[in-house]
Amino acid sequence: MQQAIESRPPPEAHPAPHGPSLQLAACLAAQPFCEVEQWDSDEPIPVKELERGVAGAHGLLCLLSDRVDKRILDAAGANLKVISTLSVGVDHLALDEIKKRGIRVGYTPDVLTDATAELAVSLLLTTCRRLPEAIEEVKNGGWTSWKPLWLCGYGLTQSTVGIVGLGRIGQAIARRLKPFGVQRFLYTGRQPRPEEAAEFQAEFVSTPELAAQSDFIVVACSLTPATKGLCNKDFFQKMKETAVFVNISRGDVVNQDDLYQALASGQIAAAGLDVTTPEPLPTNHPLLTLKNCVILPHIGSATHRTRNTMSMLAANNLLAGLRGEPMPSELML
Ligand code: NDP
Ligand code: DGY
Repeated sequence: MQQAIESRPPPEAHPAPHGPSLQLAACLAAQPFCEVEQWDSDEPIPVKELERGVAGAHGLLCLLSDRVDKRILDAAGANLKVISTLSVGVDHLALDEIKKRGIRVGYTPDVLTDATAELAVSLLLTTCRRLPEAIEEVKNGGWTSWKPLWLCGYGLTQSTVGIVGLGRIGQAIARRLKPFGVQRFLYTGRQPRPEEAAEFQAEFVSTPELAAQSDFIVVACSLTPATKGLCNKDFFQKMKETAVFVNISRGDVVNQDDLYQALASGQIAAAGLDVTTPEPLPTNHPLLTLKNCVILPHIGSATHRTRNTMSMLAANNLLAGLRGEPMPSELML
């Protein structure tokens, strides 16, 4: 998957990187009014290259790994009228600056909700039932006999699950966890969401209450200035010693030093992270030394179908924005 930089009308050829992608680039290239430039690598485009390529473009299709800040917007110049991101998360976009310049933003909500919720549940079960440790024991000869307490973890039956952010993905996670016999759902957010919460009889509580009462905590909120570092020392100190923490939102919602201390000291039982700071997490990071921490490389939405659907939505958002038409999924700024 690569970034495409697209312009209309094609004033002059930008020296263009080309390369493979999903259906996205083909869809854009098939438009008679589009001249498409594409970064020709699966690795993130270097900032300098993005600055160069975006200059004069009318549209920018980017990934969550591209920080679209004032510098990139200045490099793009006044032609830029639409940014389409291949993600539902928009924390990599300088939204205030984008709004000030009258640029429209397309994103990919809904189409990745099921895949991400599925991954969140997989990660939770993998973490609370200690699957990586168990698999490792089979391979390294640690499995010598059946032992009553060996590799015991924590189960969902009769548990209390706390969801930080009962949005699209938060609800989809609760919907999937309910049949496991969860007794009680708690949630936090900026305000109660009684209509959505009714499906799970979920109770709106404060963040400290959620931390203190939950057996499992799943973080599914967006990253904003208010949620940055939300899960910190105070939060982990309030959690039960037997509780399991899962984050599928963004790494910056968690203070990772505090999480390391909480896990290493036994203050909490285990953590499963699909997102970290930075990404990728350096292979010598302390969290990777802990048996009770399961880390995945940001694969929440990584199913073939979902990524293809996201790419088509991102392309269609871009095209609609360029034509001045309503986008299939526009972020209202
Ligand atoms: P939604 O906008 O539907 O949900 C966002 C949630 O964040 C809402 O429930 C909102 O609650 C909550 N929230 C916002 N501010 C706060 C706050 N201060 N405290 C607590 N909660 C807050 O988005 P989605 O569910 O579609 O996606 C959520 C996030 O998941 C994305 O922004 C992205 O970062 C991440 N994500 C990660 C993926 C992965 O691969 N791991 C895949 C897809 C998404 P309220 O409005 O009630 O305040
Ligand atoms: C998003 O869309 O925000 C995810 O992190 C990746 O799909």
